[in-house]
Amino acid sequence: MHAAVVTTFGSAPRYQEFPTPVPASGEEMLVDVLAAGLHPRVRSQADGSHYTSTDELPLVPGIDGVGRGPDGRLRYFILPDTTMGAMAEQTVIDIRRSVVLADTIDPVVVAAAMNPAMSSWVALRQRVQFQAGQDVLVLGATGNAGRMAVQIAKRFGAGQVIAAGRAADRLAALPALGATATVLLDGDAEGSAGRLGQTAPDVDVVIDYLWGEPAAAAMIALLANRADRHKPLTWIQTGSVAGPTAPISSAALRAARLQIVGSGQGSVSAREYLAELPALAEQITAGTFDVDARAMPLADVGQAWTAAADARKRIVLTTQQ
Ligand SMILES: NC(=O)c1ccc[n+]([C@@H]2O[C@H](COP(=O)([O-])OP(=O)(O)OC[C@H]3O[C@@H](n4cnc5c(N)ncnc54)[C@H](OP(=O)(O)O)[C@@H]3O)[C@@H](O)[C@H]2O)c1
Repeated sequence: MHAAVVTTFGSAPRYQEFPTPVPASGEEMLVDVLAAGLHPRVRSQADGSHYTSTDELPLVPGIDGVGRGPDGRLRYFILPDTTMGAMAEQTVIDIRRSVVLADTIDPVVVAAAMNPAMSSWVALRQRVQFQAGQDVLVLGATGNAGRMAVQIAKRFGAGQVIAAGRAADRLAALPALGATATVLLDGDAEGSAGRLGQTAPDVDVVIDYLWGEPAAAAMIALLANRADRHKPLTWIQTGSVAGPTAPISSAALRAARLQIVGSGQGSVSAREYLAELPALAEQITAGTFDVDARAMPLADVGQAWTAAADARKRIVLTTQQ
């Protein structure tokens, strides 16, 4: 069979022949992969920079996808940490980490949406006791995960959903998806933080895809403008597109009821992720959320890798099966 194969960290995967994997137990199944998303997490898996990386090569990247098993059924699957990923004509899945899908669904939409959507869905369901009517700030709302977070917060009954991001055109599209206000984060960090402090001081939850300096500045601006500093604020660290570390002020943690938690592989157990899969898959296949996807053939993985660096639509690699 063919797969996207990484043989050196730092180089894009190449489409080449690769041995077909073999299921090792009754819980495993060989599936024909129809679609696999090129998520930021997959890029960091493929360049060895993700915190779960074991530096083992060769590596077929891809952490999830849609495939068809020998039973003829279509499934969305999440793979465990493995060097035999989803960007292949065939891969081995653990049936317990999969959800059966209707035959009528669009595999590209599901493969594009599940990973970015899961970030906020799981954060709001597993990392905070979120209640309808609470207000949410999505920090870094213009990426695929951020625009999903806006829609999911709304779906979960949020009162205010404030979307902050640096791409003005993408930001402008978010009110139609449920944002009640938007804040443009431009090159002026102080100005951006000031605008956040004015627009979102009293939110209950921040879903933060940025981290780095912008998150630290935003945190201080929000807390300084909070009407009631005893009101709990849960800051959910979810992505780090603006930097892996942030200079958090000690005063932020002392002067307000701020709780910083993370949401991701490790802070959320595999069991907790799996518990959320069916309901999320149901919403995505029902068309509840607007999904920005672009399909490309698996054979063009090299091109997809270059395009993904500045892509806005989530690229999904597809096979003809
Ligand atoms: N923890 C989880 O469960 C989980 C799940 C999925 C994703 N994530 C993480 O969430 C993050 C976003 O993922 P994604 O799928 O949305 O990626 P994406 O579609 O590639 O979007 C990334 C966005 O980040 C924006 N951005 C980059 N640097 C920025 C900065 N300095 N200030 C403001 N915006 C900036 C980009 O904006 P421009 O358009 O302006 O370039 C782009 O819109 C990644 O770190 C990813 O690993 C976490």
